[in-house]
Amino acid sequence: MLEAPQRARLWKQLADILENYAASVHTRRVTPDLDPERIRAVLAPFDFEKPRDPFEMVEFAARQLSEWQTHTPHPRYYGLFNPAPATMGIAADTLVAAFNPQLAAWAHSPLAVEIERHLIRALGGRFGYDAASTDGTFASGGAEANHTALVAALTRAFPEYPVKGVRALAAQPVFYASAECHHSFQKAARITGIGQEAVRTVAVDGELRMSPAALRKQIAEDRAAGLAPFLIAGTAGTTNAGAIDPLEELAAIASQEKLFYHVDAAWGGAAALAAPLRGLIAGIERADSITFDAHKWLSVPMGAGVFLTRHKDLLHAAFRTPTAYMPKEAAAFDVIDPHLHSMQWSRRFIGLKVFLSLTVAGWEGYEKAILHMTEMGNRLRGKLEENGWEVLSRPPLPVLCFVDRCGADPRKVAAEVVASGEAWISTTILGGNKLTLRACITNYRTGPEDVDALIVSLDRARAKAA
Ligand SMILES: Cc1ncc(COP(=O)(O)O)c(C=O)c1O
Repeated sequence: MLEAPQRARLWKQLADILENYAASVHTRRVTPDLDPERIRAVLAPFDFEKPRDPFEMVEFAARQLSEWQTHTPHPRYYGLFNPAPATMGIAADTLVAAFNPQLAAWAHSPLAVEIERHLIRALGGRFGYDAASTDGTFASGGAEANHTALVAALTRAFPEYPVKGVRALAAQPVFYASAECHHSFQKAARITGIGQEAVRTVAVDGELRMSPAALRKQIAEDRAAGLAPFLIAGTAGTTNAGAIDPLEELAAIASQEKLFYHVDAAWGGAAALAAPLRGLIAGIERADSITFDAHKWLSVPMGAGVFLTRHKDLLHAAFRTPTAYMPKEAAAFDVIDPHLHSMQWSRRFIGLKVFLSLTVAGWEGYEKAILHMTEMGNRLRGKLEENGWEVLSRPPLPVLCFVDRCGADPRKVAAEVVASGEAWISTTILGGNKLTLRACITNYRTGPEDVDALIVSLDRARAKAA
């Protein structure tokens, strides 16, 4: 335990470290050496037998983190939807760690729970839900939000599911997501007990969007085979290539087939916050529920997922498991006890980083940042095409899949770029068979000079790989 003078010194040290990192991250290598033996050698002296100096240890942690991570806050990290956390989110997470509000029970953290409720409604309004009746919960991320959707949809379709479980069901439940969907659906299918084969991956069209015709056919075949369809999960902004499923058509099919309709807008949902992009996700307001990740395009630190629904009773039906030992004061008010309403029990105050970021930036600030990143994506596309790369996926959102026109091996090119430390990009497989390079603008600070530098790195990597 540190005494007051030491604490005060430690906070100052910490503030200096945070500022130094924020001010200098763009000057560092983006990527670390990947050398487990060296990392283990750094850790080997720590046997925890003798207490160490707190100032030295904070310094140690910061120095080693600087050395041994891919710097996702770097403007040349063209990566996996991991943002540069903006200042207010970092401040919020620091406050949360210190105050440590317990978000299992409303009565323990009334302000925190009400802030989250306020945000859920505000975000619901942005997605076209009736804000006042939007319900939802904060989650660790998109995977938990999608898992929540699966539990909610199963509960809706099979009221016996929450208590009796899958074995009580008369038929095997199955659901539909595109072949490009995020694999958290497969994982959630495993965890819910319906099994991974319950995910019917529907074929995509040339733009990697779920094919409505293939969806209708699959549903008909499954019904004929005695299976029990219960959910259509569309994606607004696929992980691979930013593709947006035909959300209106999927809504219509879900309504005709009487299926629950979820939209995974973990990344692409940010289009709802930028007027020129909003039309891209038209139809999302017809979804029964939505996954949206603030820790993707809203530039807050991990983890900050959001599950939204327009059905008030849904989360309670799915998760309500009352106990004797939890605080009961909230029962006297029209409020939500989060542990009765979501997957987690004790949990941290996720919403504050969104609240402080949004209050300080405003919707306007977010719109500006989102449009800037989209513009940088357009610049990257133009530069790639000028420099002999073929851009295979052309989403309006700033994630690009591309290959060398002369056939350089994408894996070799990505490995060269990553090893150079100048940028981080990756490879993926589109449509199940096409190996490509992938670069996404994830950082509101990425500017034209960073995009141009990526082109230089790519050209150099291509020459080496050839
Ligand atoms: C479309 C989509 N859905 C869900 C997820 C899972 O989100 P998380 O990693 O926050 O759990 C991702 C992650 O990239 C994603 O791209």
